[in-house]
Amino acid sequence: MSIEFFNTYVSPDANKIVNSVLDTTFLSEGKITEQFEKELCNTFSFNNIVTLNSGTAALHLALDLLEVKEGDEVIIPAQTFIATGLAVLYCKAKPVFADINYEDGNLNIESVRSKISSKTKAIICVHWGGYPCDMNGLKEVVKNTNIKIIEDAAHALGSVYKREIIGNISDITCFSFQAIKHLTTGDGGAITVNDPQLFEKAIRKKWFGIDRKNAVLSELGERQYNLKEIGYKYHLNNYASALGIANLEGYNDRLQKRCEIASFYKNELKNISALQLFKEENDRKSAYWLFGFHTKERLALIRRLKEKNVPASVVHQRIDKYSIFGGADLSLTNQTKFDNTQLHIPIHDAIDMKKAEYIVEAIKSSV
Ligand SMILES: Cc1ncc(COP(=O)(O)O)c(C=O)c1O
Repeated sequence: MSIEFFNTYVSPDANKIVNSVLDTTFLSEGKITEQFEKELCNTFSFNNIVTLNSGTAALHLALDLLEVKEGDEVIIPAQTFIATGLAVLYCKAKPVFADINYEDGNLNIESVRSKISSKTKAIICVHWGGYPCDMNGLKEVVKNTNIKIIEDAAHALGSVYKREIIGNISDITCFSFQAIKHLTTGDGGAITVNDPQLFEKAIRKKWFGIDRKNAVLSELGERQYNLKEIGYKYHLNNYASALGIANLEGYNDRLQKRCEIASFYKNELKNISALQLFKEENDRKSAYWLFGFHTKERLALIRRLKEKNVPASVVHQRIDKYSIFGGADLSLTNQTKFDNTQLHIPIHDAIDMKKAEYIVEAIKSSV
């Protein structure tokens, strides 16, 4: 049996849909991107969305929209991919690492509270593996302050917190459509924005800062606009959007299947004393980009599973360890503990029940 740790889902209809866009030769951002945005809003009930060309661009644009700059601090978890921290550095601000919960890998509210200073401009929470953070706890921390909340929902397309879809809760939410994510456009991303003015600003800033709607062509043949702010080339193009449209078809069914695999894993693995499954509260639904647990015998388990052709991975370990972020902060005790024992097993669109059963049996005979 061949089992990959990650997989890239490409819809059987993708060829036809992407090719039809190639045939038009309208390749850059256009009507197909608009259609993709509409379909994303319909599928997930988002209030709005601005598609972009990566999740990293989404994080950078989110911080830029909130005017995060040199001298500011942004609180983030170390349990993430480097993109979260790099985006803060792009703005010349300082990433301040808060501790996580050992039980789920998400930001620990009390630690976040203790990291707030007069320089804190924003908090980026990461829904590790797709499991939603304690959003009410975070809201409580920033109550009566000007601190903004950005959600890094790169793993959490379709996750739900207290009946609210991740994407409609905070000031800005960032998504990634990179190749191994739930929904891919090859590379791509998006933000949802709560403030209507910031939403308009995001539309300008994703395309150099040009107000395209009002920039008409002059007789000389150049668009007429005044450039008042720095913008970026962060828009998503038409053929990537076409792939997104193709892959969006049946998204909720695919997510449902992933949830069934996760339930199966939970049932089968919950009584194995060598494993501690990540904790889940009843008021949250994970989109299960990852399925994780803790085990003290990690390396031995990885090796035994590998012999049975079952890949297992830590996916990402703490990012504060990298020199650019200053080196691992060992006062983050839960993070350190999490780093030492966390492990993930395959969960994606190519994992069916037969493969899930094989994975479970491989684990049972390896612990
Ligand atoms: C938590 C997290 N944030 C941001 C990103 C960056 O997204 P992208 O690769 O689309 O730039 C990733 C990974 O790809 C991620 O895992």
